[in-house]
Amino acid sequence: MMTSCRDHFSPSTQEHLLHRLHAIQREYLHISRESIQQVAREFDLPIAQVATVVAFHSFLHTQPRGRFDILFSNCTSCGYLFDGQNLLQMLCRALQVSPGKTRSDGLISIDETSCIGMCDQGPSLLVNGIPITHLDSIKIAQLARHIALETPLADWPKDWFDVHQTIHRRDRLLTESPTSVNILHKALTIGRDSTLAILLQSGLRGRGGAGFATGKKWQVCRETPGEAHYVVCNADEGEPGTFKDRLLLTAYAENLFTGMALCAFVIGATQGFVYLRAEYRYLFESLQKTLQRCRHNGLLGHTNFDFDITIVVGAGAYICGEESALIESLEGKPGIPRIRPPFPVTHGYLGQPTVVNNVETFITAAHIVHYGSEAFKATGTATSTGTKILSISGDCTFPGIYEYPFGTRIQQMLNDCGAHPVQAVQIGGPAGTLLDASEFERTLAFDDVSSGGSLLIFGPQRDLLTVHRNFARFFAHESCGFCTPCRVGTQLIQKELDAIADGHGSAHTIKELQQLGHLVQHQSHCGLGHTAANHVLEGLHKFPQVFSSRLRPQFTARFDLDQALAVARQITHRDDTAAHLDND
Ligand SMILES: Cc1cc2nc3c(=O)[nH]c(=O)nc-3n(C[C@H](O)[C@H](O)[C@H](O)COP(=O)(O)O)c2cc1C
Ligand code: SF4
Repeated sequence: MMTSCRDHFSPSTQEHLLHRLHAIQREYLHISRESIQQVAREFDLPIAQVATVVAFHSFLHTQPRGRFDILFSNCTSCGYLFDGQNLLQMLCRALQVSPGKTRSDGLISIDETSCIGMCDQGPSLLVNGIPITHLDSIKIAQLARHIALETPLADWPKDWFDVHQTIHRRDRLLTESPTSVNILHKALTIGRDSTLAILLQSGLRGRGGAGFATGKKWQVCRETPGEAHYVVCNADEGEPGTFKDRLLLTAYAENLFTGMALCAFVIGATQGFVYLRAEYRYLFESLQKTLQRCRHNGLLGHTNFDFDITIVVGAGAYICGEESALIESLEGKPGIPRIRPPFPVTHGYLGQPTVVNNVETFITAAHIVHYGSEAFKATGTATSTGTKILSISGDCTFPGIYEYPFGTRIQQMLNDCGAHPVQAVQIGGPAGTLLDASEFERTLAFDDVSSGGSLLIFGPQRDLLTVHRNFARFFAHESCGFCTPCRVGTQLIQKELDAIADGHGSAHTIKELQQLGHLVQHQSHCGLGHTAANHVLEGLHKFPQVFSSRLRPQFTARFDLDQALAVARQITHRDDTAAHLDND
């Protein structure tokens, strides 16, 4: 963990390991054993490290993908609510390929992927990494024709690739866009201490989910001695239902880089990174252009303090949004969360003091330094100052982006987006909070209903058990596998929910689900495991009839044992062990 070696950048080209692997994947449609060996040589890394990085990430493959590689988003919002599954099947039938397989002539592969951050735009997919949204059966038929004829993507209808940014409610952050150079100039004029003081006084708390005080984080980082200090922007936005950072990276990137430069100025960093989720790779070129502009206008590479930013594109792993896993991935390793403490703020990138903040946090920090802490605190509540940007989707008339002052009632948000009637709301993604109708008077706030940025709405027609199964499948898929409670527990939760849905659940299954949920919550190594069972436990508590109405009393514990054995076989690949248990 403590290394100051930047061997994850190519010594000759300064390319990041992940970018080199992406390039090979694009050219050869997979990463062969020979390529792994070659990359290991180029980067002077152990072959095993490169091989595990490839194996770890969903977007890197050791078996060839199709020349057209399609990934349907299976997020609850677009995959379940808006029929993404049927569209996938339709495309598979039209092109005669099975989901998850590559057609024998190498033309096409079709698969699912976790949420791609387009939940406000209907069913969506990635084709060779580029998003296409607003899918329907007509578009799918046209798409199939283009693929069958091998029409290059450049000749597909241009508007298919448009990603619309629909902002329905703006508050200060999305209305005012102060000039970056002026903000930096102000910070340089008042100095490091006063800049930090403004941030501390503002009460700003991180917008990525955990809500840690941003000024405090910058202060601790700056006070921790190190060979170097680093600034990292977490642009991994992988929580299903969340797409607000997509907007910010598209339309407010200069403010983001300003916030990062301010942080660098305060903590004394010369190098920053934006860790961009692979699903947003389509934004890479425009972000690079903005960076270039910032270098020209003196925001970066300023004569008074030298700071620059590198963008690193991830490779499809939700866990890399967890800050220590993100740093591991930045360091060219599989994104397995570190043991904390120590926290990244003292032992982060290359073991050095590192600030990791969310995209929105950096942008908000830039605003605060420009307008002052008093102006910022005028909005929000005493303990949750300012505003929050939310991604709203699901059963509502106006899905999109909304900026609300903290303290706003959930009911207000439901009214604004045209959601009526509403059975339940999932706020903060599958790892967040499930609210029933009696809770809609609660407010958006760190000490009430907290959210990293999403609000997913379910009308009365929705089967919440299907929603839970979707969430459970997400966690089982995204668990990094490092610790047993999460790796096995998330799979068992998925299986138990499937059993209930298939009419094979008993009262015993419910009890097991509860026990399992608590075990995963309390015994897991990192935040993914700690939150993976929230939705089930809340669902069992707030919507018990969703589960109880599917139970069959005649099923006994024997059935649950069968289920567990099936999972054990799947996880361990040890039929003999399971067979032995079977005989007991
Ligand atoms: C499984 C998991 C996924 C996460 N994903 C993100 C993410 O996509 N974006 C983000 O900013 N924070 C994410 N976080 C929180 C980060 O670990 C970290 O707290 C955050 O980036 C700090 O920034 P902030 O203080 O500005 O909120 C995630 C945490 C966990 C446990
Ligand atoms: S809790 Fe899950 S995601 Fe976190 S380390 Fe354990 S297996 Fe990995």
